[in-house]
Amino acid sequence: METYKMNNGIKVFKYGNPIETGAVVKEKVISEEKNDLDINFQDKHSNISIALSPEDMVYGLGGNLGEINKRGRLYESYCTDDACHTEDKTKLYSAHNFFIVSGEVSRGYFIDFPTRIKYDVGYHDKNYLNIKIYGQDFYIYIIEGDNPTNISNKFLEIIGKPYVPPKWAFGYFQSRWGYKDKEDVKKVYDTFRNNDIPLEGIYLDLDYMDNFKDFSISEERFSGFKDFVNELKEDGLYLVPIIDAGVKVEDGYDIYEEGIKGDHFCRDKDGKPYEGVVWPGKVHFPDFMKEETQLWFGSKYKALTDCGIEGFWNDMNEPAIFYQEKYLNQAIEYANEKKGQNLNVYSYFELKDNFSNLANKDLYYQSFYHNVDGKKVSNDEVHNLYGYYMTKSANLGLSKLLNDKRFLLISRASSIGMHRYGGIWTGDNSSWWSHLEQNIKMMPSLNMCGFFYIGGDTGGFGGHCNGELLTRWLQLSVFTPLLRNHTAIGSANQEPYAFTEEVMNNSRNIIKGRYMLIPYIYSEYMKAVNNHKLMFKPLSFEFKGDLAKEVEDQILLGDQLMIIPIHHPNHKGRYVYLPEEMLEVSFLKENMTSLVREKGIQYVNYNLDELKFFIRKDTMIPYTKPSKNVKELDQNTLSVLAYVDKEAKYQLYDDDGVSYDFTKGKSFTTKIKIIKKADDYEIQVDNTNPTIENISFKIVDSQNNIKYKEISVD
Ligand code: GLC
Repeated sequence: METYKMNNGIKVFKYGNPIETGAVVKEKVISEEKNDLDINFQDKHSNISIALSPEDMVYGLGGNLGEINKRGRLYESYCTDDACHTEDKTKLYSAHNFFIVSGEVSRGYFIDFPTRIKYDVGYHDKNYLNIKIYGQDFYIYIIEGDNPTNISNKFLEIIGKPYVPPKWAFGYFQSRWGYKDKEDVKKVYDTFRNNDIPLEGIYLDLDYMDNFKDFSISEERFSGFKDFVNELKEDGLYLVPIIDAGVKVEDGYDIYEEGIKGDHFCRDKDGKPYEGVVWPGKVHFPDFMKEETQLWFGSKYKALTDCGIEGFWNDMNEPAIFYQEKYLNQAIEYANEKKGQNLNVYSYFELKDNFSNLANKDLYYQSFYHNVDGKKVSNDEVHNLYGYYMTKSANLGLSKLLNDKRFLLISRASSIGMHRYGGIWTGDNSSWWSHLEQNIKMMPSLNMCGFFYIGGDTGGFGGHCNGELLTRWLQLSVFTPLLRNHTAIGSANQEPYAFTEEVMNNSRNIIKGRYMLIPYIYSEYMKAVNNHKLMFKPLSFEFKGDLAKEVEDQILLGDQLMIIPIHHPNHKGRYVYLPEEMLEVSFLKENMTSLVREKGIQYVNYNLDELKFFIRKDTMIPYTKPSKNVKELDQNTLSVLAYVDKEAKYQLYDDDGVSYDFTKGKSFTTKIKIIKKADDYEIQVDNTNPTIENISFKIVDSQNNIKYKEISVD
């Protein structure tokens, strides 16, 4: 653990005897001072009440539904598998207990506690943020700072640097639950290539496994898996298989037998391995709270890394439980009793609810136990750490197995701390326009909680996507570090070529736009990680005024870009709030157009065949030519689009993209400065990147005059 005095405006308060979650990496120096928190201990709970003034905004809370300003809603931190993200839902897959109350003054709070917390953020009484912590043992960090950006940065510093994937993880990935065999996967790959649509990899869902058994490969559907993986990889295509939390109970299955022998599974109240039911039927859950189990499970990824796999998604790790046998039997008995009866509304509803409420009952989580430092602790008490520790286990295993080569790793469930071990996707959203809008708003909130390698299921997971929705969603997702089009079994095909020729052509352009922007997106990602800064910010973090606070469907990426995704059908454009004069940029079939826009509210056309964003005055963005994958990106010629009124600076970060050498200072920077002179520009370049030979500039000024310049770099 690093030593870091909790000064710098950060104070830690300890209540009772908290479980160490590992969320914070800096040494805690517990404050003896009194704080002004209004905490009321009641039964086994603790209630905190924070007064909100009318102008206060509340930010943070990571992977939750709702707005960027969290006011006016209820939230709950209790990792849950709920595939129907409707407006009334209070909890999703993650438990991210960092938030900022920002008004006249701003203050950050982090509640370091591993199980249920409920938040009423001015829902019942708009003047209060009421928090109910389901326990009395926790730490609270209070972070003072000048503004929400400064507070977020301080928080990012104490929780440690986010996970860094390989550069190829910034490419475009196709996925679906239901690519049932090698032929299906190959067909997807061929169709992308034949249609000149860039593709970095294909995620493999459950279908690749033998009977839903972790670390197994179906001989019937994926025979010769190793050759298959390596042939595709040679060609520049990665396969990313899924791993589920539950291990199938089956004699003769090596993982099950080793788990029993090594005492790696959570236990029930009688001390027997706990049995829940998920995809394969009965499963046991590895006790990831135990270090031996983390190391054991992590080492099992070898079955797949030996085949050439370098990326994984950990799923169902809230953990999701379809049912527990006893409760299914009770429901069946009740149904049998009612058979032939004339059911009224109440008995009919009870019958139905007995089945529909079988999944993920609180009772299940209260009935199985972890071994935490020799103590028997129910899952309920440490519930939110399960996905976190599963992903830590995978990270530890993969770091060894891949000899310190970077890997792609995402998880569905998470809590703060896990951000150091992997990224997350936002779970089972739907092919709804409102979920595209939700996707925009979740990005800055997740960043504030440390999660940087993030993205939603592009096109939506549940339901049937149409071509327009996919296109509009791509126009957002090409800016998110994780870019994956994924959909559920039974839903309509969702690949860019599954719709019309026009949708395919538009998707191709937009995905190519992503590849063009990878130098910038990667650079911003890495600088955010290394400097404890946000990659995505709400407008209100940078600009003053009511509109900056209220406009939440435009967000800032780095210090240069503002993105303005369209999240309504049938729209040819949208109203954009420009907090200052900016340059409207459109990537259109590898060409680029630009236009200076006055500050204020303006209607901006945004067609389905373009990729549009704004860049701020006196900034620039680097880009390159599109390519079919990251490996083939042009490393020699860099392009720069600059919007210069007086002077613009940019520091482009790059590294080898595969190793951890960057942590030892082996990275490259290209510092570019453009200074406006009477009728020309002076360009200064200070470059340590050995691959860059030429930089070509397109420089636009406030009068829309364009100058092209070319510089060779030695
Ligand atoms: C879960 C995941 C989803 C996956 C499915 C089948 O619902 O969230 O992404 O496709 O399980 O494995």
